[in-house]
Amino acid sequence: MITYERFTIICWIWISFAVVIFPLLLKVTQPYGRHSNSKWGKRINNKLGWFIMELPALVVFGFFLSFTENLFDKLVLIAGLLWALHYVHRALIFPFRLHTKGKQIPLVIVVFGILFNTVNGFLNGYWLAHFAVANESDSLVNLHLIVGVVLFIAGYSINKYHDRILIKLRNGSKAGYQIPYGGLFSYVSCPNYFGEIITWFGFFVVTLSLPALSFLVWTMVNLIPRALDNHKWYKKEFENYPENRKAVIPFLL
Ligand SMILES: NC(=O)c1ccc[n+]([C@@H]2O[C@H](COP(=O)([O-])OP(=O)(O)OC[C@H]3O[C@@H](n4cnc5c(N)ncnc54)[C@H](OP(=O)(O)O)[C@@H]3O)[C@@H](O)[C@H]2O)c1
Repeated sequence: MITYERFTIICWIWISFAVVIFPLLLKVTQPYGRHSNSKWGKRINNKLGWFIMELPALVVFGFFLSFTENLFDKLVLIAGLLWALHYVHRALIFPFRLHTKGKQIPLVIVVFGILFNTVNGFLNGYWLAHFAVANESDSLVNLHLIVGVVLFIAGYSINKYHDRILIKLRNGSKAGYQIPYGGLFSYVSCPNYFGEIITWFGFFVVTLSLPALSFLVWTMVNLIPRALDNHKWYKKEFENYPENRKAVIPFLL
């Protein structure tokens, strides 16, 4: 059993990694999807890569929760269900919906993804299994649970809705890339990332925990530089790309 003090130190170390990596990711484009290239070594099937790298978040988190006596505590149960809602889709459904036949993902991205999802699954699962109940405050618990769940569901819906628009662009015999329209694409190039950030902000509000904060920070560190790269790529690729779109946060960034 890890003490609360040690666990807190581990969380802060994990957050500080994210802070250090952020300026690096602003300079180096993450080499998957439209930015995939063979310079990053061995590559594997794209769908298989997504499945392998997302699965640990579900398995590791589930492992810790399955051993806790507090599973039916209000906070543990709600946070556990939200996590499962997201990761059952992300690991078991999303990879198989992608229209990326013949596409490959660098192994280095998959290895990093496995590490990222294992650590996040461990930190969040362990915290809920061992520390959540002791940290619960009766007076505030209902309000932050309600606000957090609403934010999570809003972010989840935004993320899934816009991922679906992107995936549908390649329905039928269409391949390659097109300018996406509809929903928040009127405002930003990557509304799916905007939804993902709101999702994990909602999860943080539900748990008010350091592991959830670390996941929110990591999500922003991963997705903000990638959204800036995607936005630049769209403008370079399509002459008629809508000028008023921002990269990821409507009206701001
Ligand atoms: N929490 C985190 O830290 C984190 C990190 C990374 C990703 N994610 C989430 O994982 C999901 C996927 O991320 P991603 O970076 O792969 O998203 P993405 O670049 O937007 O791509 C999503 C899918 O749509 C296709 N696509 C994108 N733009 C297209 C266009 N203009 N025309 C036709 N097809 C298009 C992509 O094909 P190609 O693959 O061929 O480009 C891919 O299959 C998102 O929901 C994201 O929020 C979360």
